[in-house]
Order: sequence, then structure tokens, then C-alpha cells
Amino acid sequence: MLSVEEKSELFRRAKGVIENSYAPYSGVHVTSAVLDEQGRIFTGVNVENASFGLTICAERTAVTGAVAQGAKKIEAVLIMSSIGAIPPCGACRQFIAEFAEESTPVFLATLDGIETETTIGELFPMAFGLGQAEKGC
Ligand code: THU
Repeated sequence: MLSVEEKSELFRRAKGVIENSYAPYSGVHVTSAVLDEQGRIFTGVNVENASFGLTICAERTAVTGAVAQGAKKIEAVLIMSSIGAIPPCGACRQFIAEFAEESTPVFLATLDGIETETTIGELFPMAFGLGQAEKGC
């Protein structure tokens, strides 16, 4: 269970990097903050590219940053955007699910606050995992 302090710190940290979002093509600025099993918070921003398909979402930059620093599990994810409280795209749901439990909280926020609280299991039921193949689903 996440504490109120951890939740507001996720929000504060995500807001703190909104200026770093690189979104000259869409104008949609997205940030993410993830809490790992050691209680550390990592942030990410969307990074667009002139070759549009190379764009990487904020959630994936946050998760890759966390894993690069030794994170093994994701305990919570917050996503913030300049256009309102947006849910993560399909690719990011799969990416988050790799390191999360079905019950892992996902917070959707605007620059003004958290609007929606859900879980990765709710957003992404029946996530693909290699364990399932062995068990025959
Ligand atoms: N974007 C994210 O950063 N995360 C998502 O889950 C959905 C979309 C970014 C990608 C692109 O830079 C912009 O939002 C518009 O699609």
C-alpha cells in the first residue's frame, strides 16, 4: 500500500520534469514517475524524433532509467500530461507489466493533480508473459 507521501512525491517529481519533455512535433508533453521496490523514484519524459516512429513515451524512459539503476520491481507508476490525465499506450502497458503486479497502482494526472487511480491489471488484463506459454495459459 502506497503512503500519501509517496503518492504526492510521485506527482511532485513528475511535474518537476515536464519542462524536459521533448515534444516539438505533437506538442503533447508527458512525464512519468515510477516507484521501485527500494523506495526510489525515477522520472521519464517523452522524447520525440523527426523520424516519428522512433518517439519513445515517458513511461518507457522512466522504466528504463529505473532498471538501469538496478530496480527489480515497480511498485507504482504516475503518468502526467499537458493535455489531461491520459492512460498509458498499449506498448507502455506491456512494458510496465513486465516489472509490476496486477495490483500495482497507476495514477493518471494533469499538471494540477491526480485524477484517476487504477491498476496495471485493470488497464492491461491477460498481459503477455513467457511464463504463460510454459503453463499453456
Ligand atoms: N505518449 C507518451 O509519452 N506516453 C503514452 O502512454 C502515450 C503517448 C507521448 C508520445 C508522443 O510524444 C506524444 O505523447 C503524443 O502521442
